[in-house]
Amino acid sequence: MPASVIVGLQWGDEGKGKATDLLAEQVAMVVRYQGGDNAGHTIVLGDAVFKLQLVPSGVLYPHIRPVIGNGVVVNPATLIAELGMLAGRGIAVDRVRVSRHAHVIMPYHVALDGAMEARLAGAAVGTTRRGIGPAYADRAWRIGIRMEDLLDPAGLRRRLTRILPDKNTVLRRTHGLDGFDLEEMIATALGWGERLRPHLADTTALVQAALARGEGILFEGAQGTLLDLDHGSYPYVTSSNPVAGGACTGGGIGPLQVDEVIGVMKAYATRVGSGPFPTELHEAVGRGIAERGREFGVVTGRPRRVGWLDAVPLRYAVAVNSVSSVMLNKLDILSGLEEILVCVAYEVDGDRVEWWPSDADVLARAVPVYERFPGWEGSIGGARSVAELPAAAAAYVDALEELAGVPISLVSVGAERTETIHRRDRPVRARLAG
Ligand code: IMO
Ligand code: MG
Repeated sequence: MPASVIVGLQWGDEGKGKATDLLAEQVAMVVRYQGGDNAGHTIVLGDAVFKLQLVPSGVLYPHIRPVIGNGVVVNPATLIAELGMLAGRGIAVDRVRVSRHAHVIMPYHVALDGAMEARLAGAAVGTTRRGIGPAYADRAWRIGIRMEDLLDPAGLRRRLTRILPDKNTVLRRTHGLDGFDLEEMIATALGWGERLRPHLADTTALVQAALARGEGILFEGAQGTLLDLDHGSYPYVTSSNPVAGGACTGGGIGPLQVDEVIGVMKAYATRVGSGPFPTELHEAVGRGIAERGREFGVVTGRPRRVGWLDAVPLRYAVAVNSVSSVMLNKLDILSGLEEILVCVAYEVDGDRVEWWPSDADVLARAVPVYERFPGWEGSIGGARSVAELPAAAAAYVDALEELAGVPISLVSVGAERTETIHRRDRPVRARLAG
C-alpha cells in the first residue's frame, strides 16, 4: 500500500478534504503535517456535512488512525472542541493521535496575530487570526511550548515564567492591549494537557511503524502551494510548508518513502486574504462562480476572491511538489458559462513569462495571457465517466491535463463522494528495490 501525499496546488480550498475522503478506504492512517486551525476542510457524507479544522478528515472512517503530526501548530481549545463535536456525532475519537512535539498555539499568539494585522492596516496579510504566524515564529525562535510541555507542570511553569512577561510587554506597550495572567495561563494549559494526555504520542514512530508494516498512509496538507512560506508569494503566505516536502519535515516520512503526490486543484481559482491574484474576476462572471461554488471561508466566513484558472502557477506547483497525478474539483461549478478562460502565460513589463514569479511585486504587474475554451450547458453532476460529460467539458479537462503536464486521474462533479469521475489510474512510484 502506498504512502501518498495530498497537496493543494492553488491558494487553499481546493477540495483536499474530498480527496482524502475518496482515498481513505485504501489507507490505515491519515496524517496532517502542517498548518493549524486556519484550515477548514468540508466533507459531505450523504446528508451529513462535517467541517474540520484540525483533526484529519480520515477520522470519519472507523478503520483509520488519524494523526496530527509534529509540523502542525495546535490550538488545544480548538482540538478539544472538535473532538467533542465529533464524539457528539457518534465518531470514535480515542484513535486520534497528536505529536508530543507539535507546537501549541497559546492565547498570546492569537492576540498578537490580530494585533499585528490591525497594525499593518492596508498592508495586512489577511490572516485567519488564529495565531498561526506567531506560533511558528516562536517555534523557530526556540521559545515555543510543545504539546508534551502541557504534561509537565514544573517545566511549563519555568518556560511560561520566562516567556509570558515579554509577550505581555509587547501586547501592552506596542499594541495597547491587556496582558495575560501567568497563574491563570498555567492552570488553563495544564487542563488542556490532562484532557489531551491520552492522545499524545511519538507520531513519527507511529508513521514509521505503519510504513514498516506496509500499511497505506495518506499525508494530508492544509492550505496550498501558493500559500507556502518558501514557495508562495511572500509575504502573502501562511507560516508553514504546505508543499509535499512539508510531509517529510512535519509528518515523519523520508522523501524516498513517498510513493505518490496527488495534487488537488479546482477548475477555477480562489483566494482568501490579501495578495496578488492576476486572474481575479471582479465582474458578474466571478460572482456567479462564487455563488454556485459557495466560495466562503470555512474558518472565517469571508467571501473568497474568484478568478479563472491560472496554469502558470499550476505548472510551478506540479514541479515543486513533484506531483504524480491531479484531482480536479468543482468542474460542475463552471456549467452554464458561455466561455471559459485559462491563463497560460503572463506579460510582465513587456516580456512573456511562463515560470511563476513568486515575487509579489512582479505578480502584481503580471497581465494574464488567456486561452479561451467553449463552455457547456446543463448539469454534469450525474456524469460518472468522461463519456458522459459534454464534449466541451471533456475537452476542457484534456486541455488542463496538457497544461499541467501530469495525468488528471480524478474529476469531481459534485460535493458528494459518489459525484466523481475516475478518469485514469494514478501512477504510483515503484518502491526502491532492497
Ligand atoms: P485550507 O486548508 C485558504 C490564508 C489566509 C491568509 C494567509 C495567512 O482550508 O485550504 P494564516 O492565518 O495562515 O496566517 O493566514 O493564508 N489561509 C488560507 N486560505 N485556505 C486555507 O486553508 C487557508 N489557511 C490560511 O487567508 O491569506
Ligand atoms: Mg478551506
